[in-house]
Amino acid sequence: VPRSPLVLYHDLLAAVPGEDETARAAAVRSALRGEADAMPAPLRTVLEGAGVSRGYVLRHLLPVRGFAPEVREAMQRGLPLAVARLVNGIADAGARARALAPLADVAPAAGALLPRGLAAQVERMARAERGRARATAHRDGRAVTLSDDGWLAAARPTARPRRPRGDVWTFPPLRGVPRGAEALHPLVVEGLLARTVPTGGRLIDVTAGAGTIAQVARRFGVDSWSGDLEPGAEFVHRADARTLLVGGHPGVGPGVADVLVIHPPTYPAWAEHRDAAALGGLDGYLDDVADMVTGPLAAVRPGGFVVLITRPVREPRRVSLTTSHLAQLLTDTGLALEGYVVAVADAGGEDWHVLLGRVPVAD
Ligand SMILES: C[S@@+](CC[C@H](N)C(=O)[O-])C[C@H]1O[C@@H](n2cnc3c(N)ncnc32)[C@H](O)[C@@H]1O
Repeated sequence: VPRSPLVLYHDLLAAVPGEDETARAAAVRSALRGEADAMPAPLRTVLEGAGVSRGYVLRHLLPVRGFAPEVREAMQRGLPLAVARLVNGIADAGARARALAPLADVAPAAGALLPRGLAAQVERMARAERGRARATAHRDGRAVTLSDDGWLAAARPTARPRRPRGDVWTFPPLRGVPRGAEALHPLVVEGLLARTVPTGGRLIDVTAGAGTIAQVARRFGVDSWSGDLEPGAEFVHRADARTLLVGGHPGVGPGVADVLVIHPPTYPAWAEHRDAAALGGLDGYLDDVADMVTGPLAAVRPGGFVVLITRPVREPRRVSLTTSHLAQLLTDTGLALEGYVVAVADAGGEDWHVLLGRVPVAD
């Protein structure tokens, strides 16, 4: 992006009518979603001059409207948009201030570039603050602690997980969780447990994020081990799924789990964070997910389950849908594809596609 995202954001808003920032941002959004021919000429000029896509403006720039004032100010000092978004995702103002502290001596200047290394420092601090904030996983007033081998022990279950009927499930929308967090709804997790370990067992989640699955599993008598490249909770280990069994994690070894869950980033999210073209586009993505399945696969006992979760990503005039590719990937890996569940938020805003594979039992 050729110029400061904040300057571009203001230029875009200035190119449409509206009495305040909210109205102007809404006008930009609807112009970008509408027919190209109907776009106001000043807006077209700014867009063409900046050389950015509509998707970039819709997904990345317009959300600046909801940024906290100090995060915007940090952008004026040159904080890159991706890091600003990360800091803005920290709910606690004190924690946000701590993450931004390395910028204290940098003077605001439109279009400024930060001294080398400072953005990376803020990013590291923001991730640490987010990890701390999310690690408030409490159950019955007690902090969640791990056993010596890194497993999260189940609580004594008071109920069996509820099994929704059929293969199309509905659930109420998850409130207060940003869509980008990709967190699964606890009811969807409960349904998955009912399908795989209804009376308890052991589950490994290799893309655990903030550890939603482990926290639900715990309530239903399921012990869990959670890992992620970027852990979002204290009980989630920093681990690469692709090399899990060679990565020196004492609690994870051959046949220790009844269920393995892989919930990889969607293809657009993966492509955004990597040089997708250099990594082979969709094929590169599928290779990466295949490694995330095969890396930890030996940890599942014969007859155990492999749960692969994805969702379609819909954007204006574009849909990314990888479900059938991922189903093929499971069968190519030698798993029996035993189930396919679509879990839909009843307000219609979310739909998860869940593939259930099974490790064959040797004759
Ligand atoms: C869609 S999110 C998972 C969300 C999680 N199931 C929840 O409910 O909070 C995908 C996660 O995969 C992680 N990830 C991507 N590549 C990975 C890899 N090779 N090994 C481990 N985790 C990875 C990302 O850091 C991200 O947290």
